[in-house]
Amino acid sequence: MIINRIPALIIIAVLIAGCGQKNAESSLKEGRVLSDVRAVVVSAHPQGSHAGAMIMKKGGNAVDAAVATGFALAVCYPAAGNIGGGGFMLVRTSEGAHDLIDFREKAPLAASRDMYLDAADDVVRGLSTDTHLAAGVPGSVDGMIRIHAKYGKLDFREVIQPSIDLAANGFILTAEQASSLNRSAEMFRKRNPEGCAFVRVPGWKEGDTLRQPDLATTLERIRDYGREGFYSGLTAKLIVEEMKRGNGIITSGDLEQYSAVFRKPLSSSYRGFDIVTCPPPSAGGIILLQMLEMIEPFSPAEHEFHSPEMIHLIAEAGKRAFADRARYAGDADFISMPVQELLNENYLKERMAGFDPIAATPSSNIGAGDPVSSGSTETTHFSVVDEEGNAVAVTTTLNGSYGSGIVVKGAGFLLNNEMDDFSVKPGFPNMYGLTGSDANAIEAGKRMLSSMTPVIVEKEGKLFLVAGSPGGSTIPTSVFQVIINLIDYNMTPRAAVDTGRFHHQWLPDRISIEKNSLTEKTAGRLQKMGHILHEVTALGRVNAVCARQNGFLEGVADKRGDNSASGY
Ligand code: DON
Repeated sequence: MIINRIPALIIIAVLIAGCGQKNAESSLKEGRVLSDVRAVVVSAHPQGSHAGAMIMKKGGNAVDAAVATGFALAVCYPAAGNIGGGGFMLVRTSEGAHDLIDFREKAPLAASRDMYLDAADDVVRGLSTDTHLAAGVPGSVDGMIRIHAKYGKLDFREVIQPSIDLAANGFILTAEQASSLNRSAEMFRKRNPEGCAFVRVPGWKEGDTLRQPDLATTLERIRDYGREGFYSGLTAKLIVEEMKRGNGIITSGDLEQYSAVFRKPLSSSYRGFDIVTCPPPSAGGIILLQMLEMIEPFSPAEHEFHSPEMIHLIAEAGKRAFADRARYAGDADFISMPVQELLNENYLKERMAGFDPIAATPSSNIGAGDPVSSGSTETTHFSVVDEEGNAVAVTTTLNGSYGSGIVVKGAGFLLNNEMDDFSVKPGFPNMYGLTGSDANAIEAGKRMLSSMTPVIVEKEGKLFLVAGSPGGSTIPTSVFQVIINLIDYNMTPRAAVDTGRFHHQWLPDRISIEKNSLTEKTAGRLQKMGHILHEVTALGRVNAVCARQNGFLEGVADKRGDNSASGY
């Protein structure tokens, strides 16, 4: 009798568990803007946010949720979510302690300074972006595992499981994803002659299900063997075989030696707010803090929002910060980089000494400062805050959209093309138009310079904002604008994220401006000041969480793209 009852009891238990899961799911709020929630994930894809929010519902904290979202995006947002790329995760614990894990890719040990130049010392077009040689040693898996081991509450197996389910069962493509995959079909075919999951004949449409069985088994190996499931064993073997097939240089030694590193975040203050952000090898944090410090004495809020004066001030600060980047920034584990000097208040005052409030200073007249003597692209950002107040900001990338476009055969994931973020030749622009110097030259084992800028802002020791963005060189300036929109222009979180953006990066010497964000009169005035204006469709995609005065959170997903918030 008892034996006969066991299957029935199991069925009842499974049904109850199933109902519990359904209830948990139905009590989640999902949408572009979520107000008055206690825990929230904002990411580039509804399924990515959902995976993280569900993990918090099950008792996980913000780090558990961020790791679940990170792996889920590797499945449902293949343009930038990844296990074959790298990034940075900034953490603020509910006690107010800060930490950062750098899981940026590294140059393979066989990489060398001139590896993308031909015999005449000219850059071979496409080598650092479109080939097996474009890939840096991936860091995402090690980063996720290490941060989870340090802060996670739930078992790692539970946290990674949603991504395995998404890969095995498939997920529904959004309209934007279907057309993006169709646009990239030719590239996928060329770079994966034996086929890959991302190509479908006659093409994808909204609502189709994309299944990735090879990726599911790779994720299972990571679930079962942790770091070893990626950096050694079968996955490593498949990566090395892929390299051999395409004349790449990543070896099993590169994979075994890869390690993400914990670093001290950078911080500074702006108008009574504390800004905590990413240190090198990203230059994004330095640019953000430099620009805030440079504009603070000029009280931007005295100028009307998007007035010519306001845009001019910020563009001039941008030119100076990006000129410093080109000269000084690189992997501080390899070069000596004057980080504190670049952030020094007096140095930044001096940098703005030549600022002319009515005329643009041509970039050709602006070089890097002397801080020591004076004292398509695609990336993705997600922000998470849990009920206890732990906050996480993660920016991760393959560099270009779908990275190198090369899928590791049998393992189902895309390799990055992050090597292009090195200065492949002094003064030669990377795919974001950024130039660099010796500081960012290629060296074996070195990390390429980044612009990623995960940020956490606090007011009087309390959480105020968690944010970040994709967009290559436009990342720090997008994050910068959201911060000043909130602090100087008292915008609602939604308006602060959605309103039009602009960008100046020293070279090319022009202000990029989102379509329809300025009046003709303002544009005309800026041109009279000597600025060249360049219209673009979109700058950045900021996914943010704001802590409100009533004790609740507001999650805001950028209107640019499929971004979505999920919480309760
Ligand atoms: O690390 C960096 O700065 C670049 N690889 C980021 C690329 C990026 O943001 C592309 N996004 N649109």
